[in-house]
Amino acid sequence: MTYLLIVLAILIVSYVQSQNLPSCTYVDYDGRYYDFSGLINGTYGYTHDTLFGETYYFNICAEDTVCDTSMNIVGSSACMLNGGGEFSWINLGDYTSMELGQLPNADVTGQMGATLNYTTLNYFSTLLCSDDSQYIYTSIQMFCNPGQPTTISSALFIQNDCHVIIEITSNDACPYQNTSTTSSDDKPFECVFLDNSVAVLAPNKTIECKGSGTTICNSVDAYTQRIYMSTSDTSLTFFAPDEVQCMGSNVLCNYESMYCGFINGTEVTNY
Ligand SMILES: *[C@@H]1O[C@H](CO)[C@@H](O)[C@H](O)[C@H]1NC(C)=O
Ligand SMILES: *[C@@H]1O[C@H](CO)[C@@H](O)[C@H](O)[C@H]1NC(C)=O
Ligand SMILES: *[C@@H]1O[C@H](CO)[C@@H](O)[C@H](O)[C@H]1NC(C)=O
Ligand SMILES: *[C@@H]1O[C@H](CO)[C@@H](O)[C@H](O)[C@H]1NC(C)=O
Ligand SMILES: *[C@@H]1O[C@H](CO)[C@@H](O)[C@H](O)[C@H]1NC(C)=O
Repeated sequence: MTYLLIVLAILIVSYVQSQNLPSCTYVDYDGRYYDFSGLINGTYGYTHDTLFGETYYFNICAEDTVCDTSMNIVGSSACMLNGGGEFSWINLGDYTSMELGQLPNADVTGQMGATLNYTTLNYFSTLLCSDDSQYIYTSIQMFCNPGQPTTISSALFIQNDCHVIIEITSNDACPYQNTSTTSSDDKPFECVFLDNSVAVLAPNKTIECKGSGTTICNSVDAYTQRIYMSTSDTSLTFFAPDEVQCMGSNVLCNYESMYCGFINGTEVTNY
């Protein structure tokens, strides 16, 4: 009954316009959302040397100046210098091809993070990729590692299928959280909408979320990074301290009389 009353009350309040998903943000299948812009290293990007004498250059969600200037092109986000090989510089990915997606097996492992894909044309055909692939595919797998600095763990060119896989671990690849940074003059209740997901902040308060239809809510313990998640195809009630992220067309989160969420997929806020 309470829920019905809230829904009725909400019908009178303002409907917030949908906003586009900003670049370098991502909502995973569990409704956790990420802002990877902390991993953008200016236009300089990252450098990684392998034991095979290759050097990889890449940036996250941005062009890499080393690639652009070394190959005298614009728009490259990843490239490699093949020390002893017959091609010196190879473009591995165009900035405009950028796509974010799930980490491999994340649905099974629950690993937090995302994959950033770039593609570019393979101008070297079978000289570079034995399958004569038309494209080079570069996947940068960004693994959440709470509290840890950004580390490039590996970079590998798999010539059989023209794939490059780069793995990085970082605190900046962890789901979006504000609880650890909130100061005393922060608002008691705040909502951030991203795509079909909403993050609700209420420092030191218990947030209650109710959803009908397919709904996913989760909260991440700011200190242990443990995930508390609940999903339902019919109806869901979820309580979380400090911060919660929910995804669904009909989900509302509130603390006392302040609330936000979605009604029929439309963003609503009242606080
Ligand atoms: C980030 O870019 C700076 C140059 O602006 C460079 O010196 C530094 O090594 C880069 N950081 C990493 C982790 O590669
Ligand atoms: C990224 O590339 C990998 C490997 O090719 C692929 O499995 C995955 O579906 C791609 N993800 C996106 C979002 O394009
Ligand atoms: C969360 O923190 C980020 C970065 O500090 C800031 O841009 C954003 O506005 C904050 N969101 C809320 C709801 O406090
Ligand atoms: C939350 O509670 C802790 C411990 O009582 C306190 O240190 C902190 O300032 C509180 N934060 C806010 C935003 O009220
Ligand atoms: C949601 O959409 C359905 C179907 O379009 C409509 O019947 C219903 O009235 C809508 N509910 C609200 C609260 O807008």
